[in-house]
Amino acid sequence: MDRTLRTMLMAILALPPWSPHVHGVDGQLIAEQCDQCHGPSGRSEDSQVPSIGGFSEYAIIDLLESFRIGFRQGRPVTLPDGTDTDMVEISRALSDEEIEAVAAHYARETWHPHKQSFDTALAKRGAEIHLGKCDKCHSAGGSVADDDLALLAGQWREYLKMEFEDFDRGARRMVDKMKAKFETLSDADKAALLEFYVSGGSP
Ligand code: HEC
Ligand code: HEC
Repeated sequence: MDRTLRTMLMAILALPPWSPHVHGVDGQLIAEQCDQCHGPSGRSEDSQVPSIGGFSEYAIIDLLESFRIGFRQGRPVTLPDGTDTDMVEISRALSDEEIEAVAAHYARETWHPHKQSFDTALAKRGAEIHLGKCDKCHSAGGSVADDDLALLAGQWREYLKMEFEDFDRGARRMVDKMKAKFETLSDADKAALLEFYVSGGSP
């Protein structure tokens, strides 16, 4: 496991055990547990974990629901004591009210794109592909929270790469309309799109 992720998980174990019986729903309080992996204010410090601060409330609810109902698999994260957890387990430990409260919390945060190095020429090619095939849903390069989807512009390269690979091998399902577009992409197209998102959406 990645070293930073391991350090964060050690920090989680130092917290009181995850309580499914939170009385009175405090989004901030729940988020403190999420931030152990997703970073302060949902800005991740681990390139394998997505930033989520600044996603819309609906996007967070929808993404958590997707894990909860098993539409999306959780990538296993091994805790230092050898037990595994993942986003499916985490989302299932939350009530509807807790999900709404934590989603409202992250929607109040600001999205800060991660500054990462990228290949400008490739990112420019990616921008054209994105405009033709992806921008209808992930508008302005995947930078608009009001689209109610996970933001793509400035997300961690390593995390995005893993999602692309999961879409490729069918480990993560897609909505039919995205699948129809995604299946037309060559490997070179995907590499260009990845570069475009890593550029922050404006190479
Ligand atoms: C043990 C680490 C860990 C904890 C704690 C955690 N997450 Fe996650 N989360 C992940 C990882 C890793 C992913 C990437 C998807 C995957 O691998 O399953 C993820 C993905 C997500 C996504 C999808 C983001 C996207 O771009 O698609 C959302 C939303 C999310 N988490 C919200 C939360 C919330 C809210 C909490 C607290 C209730 C939380 N997470 C707690 C590790 C964690
Ligand atoms: C018809 C609308 C639509 C189109 C077109 C579309 N997407 Fe999506 N995309 C979605 C939806 C909905 C999700 C969320 C799926 C889920 O809940 O797991 C998503 C999720 C994603 C994610 C995962 C983000 C994350 O962190 O969870 C990536 C990456 C992505 N899309 C890339 C693309 C690319 C590249 C294209 C163009 C080839 C594209 N999408 C076209 C609707 C669309």
